[in-house]
Amino acid sequence: MITQNCTPLIRLLALLISATSFACERAPEAPQPDAAGPPTLAPKTDAAEPPKDEVSSRHAVKFTGADGQTRSFSLAELIEHVPTHEVTVHDPLYDKEKTFQAFSLRELIPYGFGQTAEALADQDIVLGALDGYTVPTHGARLFEEGGYAAFADEPPKGWEPIEAKKADPSPLYMIWVKDSQQNEQTHPRPWQLTEFALSSHEALYAHASPADLPEDDPAQRGYALFRQNCIVCHSVNLSGGRVGPEMNIPQNITEYRSRDFVLAYISNPEQFRYSQMPAFSHLSEAELASIWSYLEAMKAQKIELPGK
Ligand code: HEC
Repeated sequence: MITQNCTPLIRLLALLISATSFACERAPEAPQPDAAGPPTLAPKTDAAEPPKDEVSSRHAVKFTGADGQTRSFSLAELIEHVPTHEVTVHDPLYDKEKTFQAFSLRELIPYGFGQTAEALADQDIVLGALDGYTVPTHGARLFEEGGYAAFADEPPKGWEPIEAKKADPSPLYMIWVKDSQQNEQTHPRPWQLTEFALSSHEALYAHASPADLPEDDPAQRGYALFRQNCIVCHSVNLSGGRVGPEMNIPQNITEYRSRDFVLAYISNPEQFRYSQMPAFSHLSEAELASIWSYLEAMKAQKIELPGK
């Protein structure tokens, strides 16, 4: 992975000429003695330009606070203020090695919200795509080393269409570079990513909270761990992800599974069966115990489903 520095002027120029195809390392005034190929900064002539308003909405990236206030930036503004990186990675959606121009999420998101990474790390952040697709995630996850938002494909080709829909992934495509970050459930890869929105977990996971318990109850610690590690895949009272089984209704998992089984399963699911669930071998005995306390506490807080 290489980090490169482009002067803001060059970045802006590149963007004005063609939003998706440029190479920062070649300044326009740099001599090109061999003049072998077309200049990297040449505008695309072979593709029809999309309508202007589509370009502007595609290229706006929004950061919405918990109060609903939105700060909106064009890609050009972000490129001017946030460091850019060239990232080469084997991309699972394209299924080949790709080079992207990208922002590090650790640098982009704090800039967008105008807040420090420390302040945002503990927040639930919902990612929004142009087509309305949303995925809830967590600040600490997004700020892991290795998380990027790509804004341009390998120059000089422009964006290669992505997935079966052959969609244009702009304005942003989220990529993760580490081997440990290749599970899409824990490290989502939305394309056409256009919004980061802070959300309270009360709003996101309305029914998963052990609301009736005091703050210092171990179940509250367990709930915090469950939100950080599990809720992307597991729901409690149908609040949360759909990849793994629901944990509370109609039966709470502690009503039909033993404590020993559940704790052993969380630490290393593959000792029982292969599935999409990753191992949580780093969780301590005390942390596992608090997750159990949380699950058990939710037994007393089942939601009622209409008609059941
Ligand atoms: C990437 C998604 C994912 C994450 C993250 C995840 N799980 Fe799972 N989990 C699954 C899937 C899928 C299954 C079902 C596996 C199967 O049916 O074989 C499962 C199964 C389980 C089971 C066994 C249920 C049973 O009755 O056999 C438990 C317990 C469990 N998960 C707890 C957790 C806890 C606690 C966490 C967080 C520390 C967690 N899981 C994180 C996907 C996930």
